[in-house]
Amino acid sequence: MNGANDIAARLLRGETLTSAEFAVLAASSDETLEETLRAAAVERRKAVYGNKVYTRGLIEISSICKNDCLYCGIRCSNKNAERYRLDPDEIVKCAEEGYALGFRTFVLQGGEDPFFSDDVLVPLIKTLKTRHPDCAVTLSLGERSSESYKALFDAGADRYLLRHETATKAHYEKLHPPQMSFERRMQCLQVLRKIGYQVGAGFMVGSPFQTADDLGRDLAFLQSFQPEMCGIGPFIPHKDTPFRACPAGTLRLTLRLLSIIRLACPNVLLPATTALGTIDPTGREKGILAGANVVMPNLSPVRVRKKYALYDGKICTGEESAQCKDCLAQRMRAIGYEVVVDRGDCAKTIRN
Ligand code: 5AD
Ligand code: FES
Repeated sequence: MNGANDIAARLLRGETLTSAEFAVLAASSDETLEETLRAAAVERRKAVYGNKVYTRGLIEISSICKNDCLYCGIRCSNKNAERYRLDPDEIVKCAEEGYALGFRTFVLQGGEDPFFSDDVLVPLIKTLKTRHPDCAVTLSLGERSSESYKALFDAGADRYLLRHETATKAHYEKLHPPQMSFERRMQCLQVLRKIGYQVGAGFMVGSPFQTADDLGRDLAFLQSFQPEMCGIGPFIPHKDTPFRACPAGTLRLTLRLLSIIRLACPNVLLPATTALGTIDPTGREKGILAGANVVMPNLSPVRVRKKYALYDGKICTGEESAQCKDCLAQRMRAIGYEVVVDRGDCAKTIRN
């Protein structure tokens, strides 16, 4: 019986796998198999996106959050977290600076901060789109009502990132307080898609209680949903959370999953995340070499960067935006990839 190899061969042929089959791949630490997946993922990514790496300017607009996710450093019950929010003028200024540096996508990310109501966000998005009509605006602001998602889309937002965190209900409930609901989370993704957003899902690798079966369900969910974007990165403990003593997710598993996701969703925009760069000094380079095609340097004002601490040890908290951008461009060039000035939309998704 050569289970994992047979399953991998079918994934390489573009077949749909069951969650049990994906679980076998996620759990297999056979080095030859990993290398096969990696090489095939790079080939697929090259066929769709060449050696281009897309870049997004990440603006962390608020560390205030009404939620209490057990893994997250800005959870509301963390009394040690330093809270801030950027005012809309400052966000516009960050984008201005980013535009001059060559960014054509701005990601507004933050906790679920009630200050950022539609009344604040709609004019802000309109301002950004008026000043930079050639740019995409991506939002990563958590769960909101369908009406709100629609209003923000109508104002000009192009994309929405909302990691599903885990496709297993029982696992979801171990990572979140009872007020949060797995069904609502998944429903939000459906609503976002229906409205017309390019949608991003994703999960943490090695989050507490995560099993290979859970990962199998994450991968099967991704293959069937075919998100335009997918954010995965290692779980990293934060000292002021209930998961402070839990081990971080590993580089190796994260890289293996990046390759599998590239094969299951060939057109997906897949970042080599800051968390990956945090657990390994060249983690982002390794992520690109495993099948990722996006990097997201930080455009937030340096004075707030340390305060947006979802996990301990986060990199890029001392550098100015220009330094971060140059650093990443250099890192990508060194491994044979080119960071481009481009909105970086998803290549047309073939849904089956
Ligand atoms: N380690 C790694 N990633 C984390 N996130 C939140 N807390 C952590 C952590 N401790 C991720 C979640 C969230 C995204 C914005 O950051 O997946 O969706
Ligand atoms: Fe931020 Fe290297 S990417 S300093």
